[in-house]
Amino acid sequence: MIRHVTSEPSFAKRKARDLLLVPFWNKGSEAQAAFRDVKGVRWNDWGVLRDFKAKEGEAVLYYDHGFKEKRLLLVGLGKEQDATAETFRRAAASAYEKVKGLKIQSLSLLPPVHHKIPHNQVEEAFLEGMLLAAYPLKSHKTGRSRGDADQLSEIALIRSVLAKQEIDALQKLTGAVFYARDLVIGNADDVTPSYLAAKARETAREFASVTAKVLGRSALKREKMDLLLAVSRGSKLEPKLIVLEYRGNQKSTHRTAVIGKGITFDTGGLNLKPTGSIETQRGDMAGAAAALALIRALASLKIKTNVTVVIPSAENGIDSASYKPGDVYRSHSGKTVEIANTDAEGRLILADAISYAIEKFKPAQIIDLATLTGAIIVALGHELSGLFSNDDALAAALTNAGEKTYERVWRMPLPKEYRSSLDSDIADIANSGGRPGGSIKAALFLQEFIGDTPWAHLDIAGTAYLPSKQKYLPKQGTGVMVRLLTRFFQDEADSGSR
Ligand code: BES
Ligand code: MN
Ligand code: ZN
Repeated sequence: MIRHVTSEPSFAKRKARDLLLVPFWNKGSEAQAAFRDVKGVRWNDWGVLRDFKAKEGEAVLYYDHGFKEKRLLLVGLGKEQDATAETFRRAAASAYEKVKGLKIQSLSLLPPVHHKIPHNQVEEAFLEGMLLAAYPLKSHKTGRSRGDADQLSEIALIRSVLAKQEIDALQKLTGAVFYARDLVIGNADDVTPSYLAAKARETAREFASVTAKVLGRSALKREKMDLLLAVSRGSKLEPKLIVLEYRGNQKSTHRTAVIGKGITFDTGGLNLKPTGSIETQRGDMAGAAAALALIRALASLKIKTNVTVVIPSAENGIDSASYKPGDVYRSHSGKTVEIANTDAEGRLILADAISYAIEKFKPAQIIDLATLTGAIIVALGHELSGLFSNDDALAAALTNAGEKTYERVWRMPLPKEYRSSLDSDIADIANSGGRPGGSIKAALFLQEFIGDTPWAHLDIAGTAYLPSKQKYLPKQGTGVMVRLLTRFFQDEADSGSR
């Protein structure tokens, strides 16, 4: 893991580290230096003479060179006119991939420059890609601990335009992302509802601006959260409703509720998931993990906003005590729900959490994060999260934050016609309306509990948990939505609207 990010004002006087990292643009068939001129070095010779074209993703390591570092790593950025912030994140990830596993503890980076994108944004993106790629994935292999293969712990930015504060902020943000990844990747037997509650309490102890409150089984009964209780009945683990409050703007009464699905393992319940679908379901608390990590990001960055996180958490297990298909339960809101399918459990616990949040906190807006449907993976794959919203301005702001952070979202419709698929003969609503348009129906179910509060639902089933490593994202837990939502709240605070 990269713990130290330092700056050095001079190329000539830099300390000798284990590696010198130099980015290049691809120009026609040649590589061209992609940083501000450094006197006395004919950089372009490196590109031209050494068969390096600087294509996106290209990274070439040299040992035989004239620099004071033992190794020289050239990394390609592709064509300058095609570049966006994401280009730099990805190039940094390719560079990291190349050095990972080598005995490199420190490196010096000549930060790239782009003629149109401001220097600080370019550098931030490159550094962010590097930091995110250097996530120490925990290994359960005997004799290996976390991130053993990766020794890199220091990056020095040569002639950087970034202030120490900007660098610190990036480290805090990526630290929060790692916090979410760890929770998602951790064993389901370890990351239980009680564990999430303990993490929330710990977070409140760590930050003066954060308070935590946890409701256990008896409190949930008192509060009539019967949907959450129903879902939890097939497991011996106690369900929890976790409330975390961040007050970063004491002067304002405005607050956003962020609700995160916290199913610590989803067997499907009596509508048991088949082999092939069940194996990834320890990640079904990725919404909760992102919400918890978001609070840590906001608090450590001291962002001027107020956010209340509500996490309904349970294990959707299987047992003779399990809640049953066909039975009817009363939600916290008073609406009755027929259980059409015990595997549509996420919307049940979210419904209780949403109406609880509205009753107790009267939030100005609600954002929920949930690995809600397999159907969103069919629709959007693993790159884009599904966004459903009853508010165009909120949807636009989230989409924008998604573009900036490249945690992209795609807005999905909420057509009224589909609501009738959730009609029940015996209850106010059923929790499943069949497979076609499954993600939309899940969102329409949630909307029933929202009323007229501006609301956005992010279905992250495809983006929170990956089948394989992607650029700077590890296999499995990505920590998606921590960066997007931090950006969203930062933008909101900057625009002075809160
Ligand atoms: N946790 C799942 C959704 C999911 C699927 C997340 C794959 C990550 C990867 C959710 O609780 C679920 O089971 N949804 C069902 C709903 C259906 C029964 C209406 C689904 O998507 O099949
Ligand atoms: Mn399920
Ligand atoms: Zn689930």
